Amino acid sequence: MKTCSAQLGVGLGRGEGLTLGEGGVVGPEGGLAVGLGAALPAPARQPPQTNAVTSSSAPDRRRTRESDTPGSLSRGPTLAAVLVRNPYLEEFESTSPAWRVPPEMRKLSFERYQLRQELVAKYAWAIPSQEAVELLVRHSPLVEMGAGTGYWAWLVRQAGGDVLAFDRYPPPDRRNRWHAGRQPWTEVKPGGARLLAKHPDRTLFLCWPPEDEPMGIDSVRAYRGDTVIFAGEPTSAGEVVRELDRWDLTETLDIPRWEGIHDRLFVLRRPRHG
Ligand SMILES: C[S@@+](CC[C@H](N)C(=O)[O-])C[C@H]1O[C@@H](n2cnc3c(N)ncnc32)[C@H](O)[C@@H]1O
Repeated sequence: MKTCSAQLGVGLGRGEGLTLGEGGVVGPEGGLAVGLGAALPAPARQPPQTNAVTSSSAPDRRRTRESDTPGSLSRGPTLAAVLVRNPYLEEFESTSPAWRVPPEMRKLSFERYQLRQELVAKYAWAIPSQEAVELLVRHSPLVEMGAGTGYWAWLVRQAGGDVLAFDRYPPPDRRNRWHAGRQPWTEVKPGGARLLAKHPDRTLFLCWPPEDEPMGIDSVRAYRGDTVIFAGEPTSAGEVVRELDRWDLTETLDIPRWEGIHDRLFVLRRPRHG
């Protein structure tokens, strides 16, 4: 995954894994400062941060995140906040300890591990914040592959976004080993990566595609559009992360996280040459 500017040097070298550090921020010169999050203890409840990745050769480095993603203003149905009902976030926040240590020092206890297992099966693998939903709505219309219970799609639809959600085995299908027997939150249609070729006009959304199955990489290869939003860990062993490393990173957003998990949102644009 690379940024708009090759100068920034935060792209992935082959086989190096995603080097965009946790808590990376846009510096005063429009460059990306990497890894600050690891050095500076963050307050326990830091609001999620949207990091636009700007080109250092751009005439106006103070451009807003919207202007960094041409077309998003005209595509998104609204930029106004529509507050969504988000029981996953409520449950996560109400069960989270009052941490005294910075995020990178937090450990998932066995009880919290069990709670996470339950909540990811019931809701989703990434915890959506209001800001995350708004980011998706800005990039609407969307097509989501591997949507699981459809929890993220449900939030996007609540907020007025347009999303088609697909999964090989939409829950409660017992063949879905991540969400077997769970109730979907919205309509998730059966379907696989190949159908993405029919939706070049939509932003592709992938949330925690499996590391040990090719759905993520197959989706990116089948997709003919220009924008992918990836929710997951940049250190994932999945082939899809290595593929997306070749794309231009235009924006990132921190999301609430379980202890020891390093997922966030990445907005990527297809490189012009390559
Ligand atoms: C780890 S779960 C993530 C589900 C959801 N995105 C979330 O964050 O909760 C992976 C999902 O990918 C789906 N999946 C796996 N292989 C697939 C394929 N070939 N085509 C479509 N969906 C697939 C699974 O059925 C499962 O729902």
